[in-house]
Amino acid sequence: MYHERMGALTPDDILQELQGLLEGERDPVATLANAAALLYLHLEGINWLGFYIVRQGELVLGPFQGKPACTRIAMGRGVCGAACQRGETMLVGDVTIFPGHIACDPQSRSELVVPLRCRGQVVGVLDCDAPETGRFGEPEQRLLEGAALIVGRHLDAAGGSL
Ligand code: SME
Repeated sequence: MYHERMGALTPDDILQELQGLLEGERDPVATLANAAALLYLHLEGINWLGFYIVRQGELVLGPFQGKPACTRIAMGRGVCGAACQRGETMLVGDVTIFPGHIACDPQSRSELVVPLRCRGQVVGVLDCDAPETGRFGEPEQRLLEGAALIVGRHLDAAGGSL
């Protein structure tokens, strides 16, 4: 299934809304929490969306929407750890055949993970799960990469720490 529009909105509409939502708030937790809430609201057919943050060489759960999830992921492990270590977006159409996938929510079938950069360094990831195989494509990748860029720049402007 191809989701070019997210409900009535295009990815660019959502990114513009995100930019506006973050304006004026410098706190990193508030920033990540509202970013996760906005994206979760606008992406149809997903069951989890949120951030993992690099803390002393591992990933620790950050603000998210969805069911409670694993709190720590070792660098390089699972889809999140792979995206973080490589500094690359990982788009997994079928998590059941991804070696090392971590099933926080057994309902998840596909996953999109985008690195979050602050001052040029990967400081975490933005992770999104869906219960449908092959849920994510180019529009969703563009949206989440754009969102990570906006959030990263916002954190930079607010002092650059997480
Ligand atoms: N599936 C992820 C773990 C995080 S949850 O999806 C929220 C992974 O393999 O890294």
